Amino acid sequence: MYLELYDFNQKPEPFSHYTTDTLWTDPWIAQQMLKTHLDQGTDLASRRIQTIDRIVGWLDRKIGLSGKKVCDLGCGPGLYATRMAARGAKVIGVDFSTVSLTYARSEAAARNLEIEYREADYLTDDLPGEQDIVSLIYCDFCTLSPEKRRTLLKRIKGMLNPGGRFVFDVSTTRQFTERREVATYGHRPMGDFWSPDDHFAFHTTFLYDQEKITLDRYLIVGPQRRFEIFNWMQYFDPEKLSSEVRDAGLVVEEALNVMTGEAWTPETEELALISRA
Ligand SMILES: C[S@@+](CC[C@H](N)C(=O)[O-])C[C@H]1O[C@@H](n2cnc3c(N)ncnc32)[C@H](O)[C@@H]1O
Repeated sequence: MYLELYDFNQKPEPFSHYTTDTLWTDPWIAQQMLKTHLDQGTDLASRRIQTIDRIVGWLDRKIGLSGKKVCDLGCGPGLYATRMAARGAKVIGVDFSTVSLTYARSEAAARNLEIEYREADYLTDDLPGEQDIVSLIYCDFCTLSPEKRRTLLKRIKGMLNPGGRFVFDVSTTRQFTERREVATYGHRPMGDFWSPDDHFAFHTTFLYDQEKITLDRYLIVGPQRRFEIFNWMQYFDPEKLSSEVRDAGLVVEEALNVMTGEAWTPETEELALISRA
């Protein structure tokens, strides 16, 4: 046990483990994630509906959604896809969570919206081409290693029509200054979020000051199953972000405050970038 806990508390190399797929597609955790997406008391998995409405509103005013072919990568339960389609966009939502897509499809049917939802991994599977807009919303870009970010940006460039826009958001270095290193342990500390079975969970937050990266590392130990989750987060400033986007051959247009759609300022915690193919 000592060795296991010793190992768990070692600080790994940034992005040395990838468990994003387990976090979103494990059948039990995916159901808890869906509840979290829809919970209007928290912004943990998705922003609250009121905020999403504001974001889709400024997106529409800035780049116009009506008649546009839009692909929303990591669409989750379709909270943005639904609203973009309601404003006249022809939307394809891509996600690898079966549970979220089942909900998204039922919402589209209930609202009589024609949205195509594809179950796929946006890092490896085929993606739709000839899009006017590609979106990647709620800081998913931050969870990827530099190599995966490069791969994804190149894939996105390939999805866009000439002049097509890529819109995405990230957490800023301002947010990094508020993170702290902590270590906690408890008996079912998040209720049955990790597992319906009895379990203990350990959580350690590591900070990488130089690189502006955090890792939330979880170890879940039950009578039958033991697993780890690595939640990486890269925090950006507009210069670093713009340079990665330019390296993929996209032209940076604007850095914005996600909440308002107005110009980015250094005290902004989340930054949206609009770029063009
Ligand atoms: C933080 S949630 C955001 C969902 C949605 N954009 C929103 O804001 O409501 C991240 C979503 O990305 C999906 N996702 C993460 N990595 C993915 C990948 N490689 N391929 C497809 N979907 C992915 C997850 O399943 C999850 O639905």
